[in-house]
Amino acid sequence: MNLSPTAPDRAEAGDRDEFRDAVLAGLARQPRAIPPRFLYDARGSELFDAICELPEYYLTRTETGILTACTPELALLAGPGCALVEFGSGSSVKTRLLLDAMPDLAAYVPIDISRQHLDATAERLRRDYPRLRVEPVCADYMALETLPVDLNGGDMSGAPRLGFFPGSTIGNLEPHEATAFLRRARTLLGDRGALVLGVDLKKDPQRLHDAYNDSAGVTAAFTLNLLRRMNRELGATFDLSAFAHEAFYDPVEGRIAIYFRSLRDQSVIVAGRPFAFTAGERVHTEYSYKYDTADIAALAQSAGFTIDRTWTDPGRQFAVVYLEAAA
Ligand code: TRP
Repeated sequence: MNLSPTAPDRAEAGDRDEFRDAVLAGLARQPRAIPPRFLYDARGSELFDAICELPEYYLTRTETGILTACTPELALLAGPGCALVEFGSGSSVKTRLLLDAMPDLAAYVPIDISRQHLDATAERLRRDYPRLRVEPVCADYMALETLPVDLNGGDMSGAPRLGFFPGSTIGNLEPHEATAFLRRARTLLGDRGALVLGVDLKKDPQRLHDAYNDSAGVTAAFTLNLLRRMNRELGATFDLSAFAHEAFYDPVEGRIAIYFRSLRDQSVIVAGRPFAFTAGERVHTEYSYKYDTADIAALAQSAGFTIDRTWTDPGRQFAVVYLEAAA
């Protein structure tokens, strides 16, 4: 009898070990922090989709508006026959704006860490774009050195690569990580490559604050879902009413910082170990860095890109930039 776990079981067990190790390490250090990628379990992804619809959360709506207006020009800049490579494709909603404007793509290569998301998205896109070659890559784009797809084979020999990194996801990286990511993207996309990057701009702090502290409490639910996940997957004993979501704009660092905060002195068991929290103590979950045009230029330059074109909305809330590999 074969008792070895099936592949999905093994993947799940591996995921859970990784989650446990990251949480234990994150709670053992000072200041406490848990890596943001663990916010996105099935429920977290649903809540995130709900965040994107919130009246206060202007980012998604604004970026979609910019993309809708700029895709014709973007398609001209990219030229015909390129391969579109998306870093962290999720459900590829914004991608469709590009796909619609570029009917002659050599391929669409979505990269995502969630096999489930990736397969579902690939299937939907193949159905809706029957002539498009879809080559999904299941990987952590932060760790990917080369593209494990043969883009030089078949009729794609020499297809220039166009990267896509929307949603101000670059802002969830610390500046040194953002540079490292862009350098890797620069290598992956090649000397004739380009990258379309969505960046949230520095603005009125109140507007920024409200985007991460919505009145319906969806962002709070998103942060606290991490505690729920620890309870479920790590046998933790977090009392969700004894912690609160906290997000504020730090104008010196130019970032929103997001935490969960203990509302009283308390002890919580996580994966069999006790952790003491003092009243007011915070555990960091995520940053969302905001950029101005000079910041974006410096970031691009540090990674070997030049800015070819910047599109913004009339209120200059958000920017979509077209970066080209510097000669
Ligand atoms: N990248 C987006 C942003 O920084 C989305 C996001 C990531 C987000 N983590 C979040 C939004 C937490 C709200 C709360 O805004």
